Amino acid sequence: MAAVLLGGRALRRPLVRVPGLGWVTSDPVVSREILKDGRAFTILDEGGVGHLWGQILGDWVFDLFDGPGHHDLRTRARDLFTKATATEIVDDAWGPSLAAARATLDAGGTLDVGPLSRTLVGRMMTTILGIVPPAGRTQDAPWPTDAEALAIFRTGERLASVALGTGSSTHLSDAQVVTARGIVAELTSGVPDGWAHAPGHLLLGRCRELGLSLEETTGIASLLMVAGTETSASAMARTTALLVDTGEQHRLLAALARGEDPWDDVVREGLRVTSPASVIGRGVAADVKVAGRTLRAGERVMMLVWSANTAPGPFRIERPYVADNRQLWFGAGRHLCLGAALARAELEHLLRTLFEGGPLEIVRRRAQPKVLVPTYRTLEVRRAR
Ligand code: HEM
Repeated sequence: MAAVLLGGRALRRPLVRVPGLGWVTSDPVVSREILKDGRAFTILDEGGVGHLWGQILGDWVFDLFDGPGHHDLRTRARDLFTKATATEIVDDAWGPSLAAARATLDAGGTLDVGPLSRTLVGRMMTTILGIVPPAGRTQDAPWPTDAEALAIFRTGERLASVALGTGSSTHLSDAQVVTARGIVAELTSGVPDGWAHAPGHLLLGRCRELGLSLEETTGIASLLMVAGTETSASAMARTTALLVDTGEQHRLLAALARGEDPWDDVVREGLRVTSPASVIGRGVAADVKVAGRTLRAGERVMMLVWSANTAPGPFRIERPYVADNRQLWFGAGRHLCLGAALARAELEHLLRTLFEGGPLEIVRRRAQPKVLVPTYRTLEVRRAR
């Protein structure tokens, strides 16, 4: 995948056909044109994530992930995450963990942002999906402990890894389907109860109040789990490293000292350069002409969004908004990331915790092997000495 993404940076034409992969583009404008054309392109055919999910969750996915059923669901789910609700959710789910992380740094200690980001995301999933403690767990510790939150993250990661082998095909083997179904059942076992009883300020309660059925809520919950775990954790750890490695943390601290609010720009730039959802796929549903090429129904197209997003240059927090790319790291059109506001709030909260107290230095780092979304297994930081 890395080779494909780097190769994407060298493409000379906006849309090319690559044997074994299908159509490939690393052009941000062409990618957006494809993502916004819901008539000629579909997420449900071979090549799109809906095709993966249909095999795991069942045929009802096809009504919900594209076409009128999807449009209706997105219309009702529009306010699921706003900037204000996302900030509140992050404060609620992460407040104590972030305070502890800040205290460690302030005391001169070392903090491993690799496991920290995974633990935080595991906590977020527990909160928003209403994941309940397993039967027989002792009640004396608050739910979940860090170890339990990490285990929940890992379960989501196992689910995403089912997609690992699908780079060139979204057909799953029977064994992959059985594995994935088991994980989904485990992760969503708390959904019926949460959907029935959770208060409106929690996601499952809000789904009910928005008029989403239990089936739709379970679908959204599964999707959130996969779409919002590794992507968020990767953006958090890698943006932390970028701020230190590029020296941009000093520019950030100077802006804070001047009383400015640089966070929106920092978060946007971190998402641009990391682009954790590095590739978006679609199937061609009807013959269509794009960038002067004719794509035929049944073919597939890969949008190398990491290649497109990183082309404008290195991580610079003062980089102006790049109009061609907009927020392509969250996709575009009808499937634009539903959790975008939550992802931005997560990243901002973590970076504030780490950097508001002064510059950091990296003590030790190691990449995580064999993952779909690149990330750090270990990223130990402490206050710069
Ligand atoms: C940095 C973090 C994230 C990135 C880079 C990201 C990126 C994306 C992208 C590119 C898509 C579009 C996929 C496509 O068109 O095929 C997407 C869809 C989606 N994302 Fe995110 N995402 C992130 C975090 C989250 C979070 C935290 C959540 C929720 C908890 C979430 C929930 C979703 C959902 C539900 C969809 C499907 C929307 C639909 O099909 O209508 N994402 N995301």
